[in-house]
Amino acid sequence: MSLIQPVRGMRDLLPSETAAWRALEAAAARCFAAYGYREARTPVLEKTELFARQLGEHTDVVQKEMYAFTDGGGENLTLRPEATVAVVRAALAAGLHRAPPPARLFYSGAMFRRERPQKGRYRQFHQFGAEALGAPAPEIDAEIILMCRRLFAMCGVEDRLTLVINNLGSAEERAAHRGKLRDYFRAHINDLDEASRARVDDNPLRILDSKNAQTQAIAAAAPRLAPGKESAAHFDSVKRLLDAAKLRYEEDAALVRGLDYYNLTVFEWRAPDDRRQNAVCGGGRYDGLAESIGGPPLAGCGFAAGVERLLAEMEAANSPTPKPTPSLQVAAIDEGDALGAFALNIAERLRAASLARGGDDVEITRPPADGGGAGRRIKKASGAGATHIALVGEDELRAREVTIKRLADGAQEKFAVEDVDEILAFVGAPLRD
Ligand code: HAM
Repeated sequence: MSLIQPVRGMRDLLPSETAAWRALEAAAARCFAAYGYREARTPVLEKTELFARQLGEHTDVVQKEMYAFTDGGGENLTLRPEATVAVVRAALAAGLHRAPPPARLFYSGAMFRRERPQKGRYRQFHQFGAEALGAPAPEIDAEIILMCRRLFAMCGVEDRLTLVINNLGSAEERAAHRGKLRDYFRAHINDLDEASRARVDDNPLRILDSKNAQTQAIAAAAPRLAPGKESAAHFDSVKRLLDAAKLRYEEDAALVRGLDYYNLTVFEWRAPDDRRQNAVCGGGRYDGLAESIGGPPLAGCGFAAGVERLLAEMEAANSPTPKPTPSLQVAAIDEGDALGAFALNIAERLRAASLARGGDDVEITRPPADGGGAGRRIKKASGAGATHIALVGEDELRAREVTIKRLADGAQEKFAVEDVDEILAFVGAPLRD
């Protein structure tokens, strides 16, 4: 029988990758905390109605990509394709918007979209994101964008990414623009690609985003959104704040984003290639969202970054990956009862001391008994990925001592078993060149 495979587009993350994930998650949490954002965790399953209308009935996400099903109790549920709507729901339910605004929340976790899997595009993928609720002023748009820049700088990829921004105007301005676009594309319908033709009536804005060359040429001459005075002033302020922070950006009228809840500022950070999935991060303002899910009027602005795509950029930028955790194997030369208990005792002391220091900074393992001599023990420890070995025999047991050997260069030191701090310092010390 062949091994059962994971679901297409969903990946296992194993120890060779999880260290880099953990390091990135920790860096992101530190970065968001520095801006006053605190973590929220919402369920992975939500009622389908939460997403269907707010993300846009005619968007790809809702029409084709949601993992939606009816559960045993007849409820219509969906695996979350994104987290913004759920975070707004959670904040409203808990009344966080009633505290002095803005409520600043961040999150990270798995999202699910049934897209066609390819490099950088998965059906289960992961996002970090942040949402600021209750702040209509342009400072928040700038703060969110600057926070993204800070995160990318911490990841060593700031120089690889291009920031693209656009002004979608108010809901009314968008509706008027949509009408004009519909008329324009209807007049050119025979020259559009098939996917765009199907969007003319329901989602003409999305045609601006088409990657088809002929459609692009038609879209280039389409009527532009004419933001009213207030919308233009908001966007100008955002740009002035970005200029003052010396952040370079491109303006692109074709940036419409794949979700419907946006108004005014939208932005994306793009990787340096023109694959479709080159967006590492996207976000913007969504001032109508809270009301549309039954809440009070509440301004909102946020972003989400794709963890897989960010890690791919870090790799491409040769951003240093975390060093492997030092790993000490405590082995007895002869696994008789007394020696085995002695080795176990040393391992337990060291684990307790390491944990008391708050750390997963040293990994301490015990190999299975196999009756092998010192040479074989060392070889096996090295094969198992250990960086150090403590080999104990009858002499060590009598003297209550332990000799620790660093496998990289053979350096070794003898310690009394009580000297746990010294032992951990030796094991955790970086190798001299
Ligand atoms: P989004 O643009 O749909 O926005 O997704 C944000 C990021 O998630 C993308 O830039 C990309 O890096 C990553 N991503 C999306 N789909 C996939 C996929 N199939 N495979 C791998 N990575 C993917 C949102 O989700 C909004 N909630 C962002 C937001 C927050 N707007 C305001 N607040």
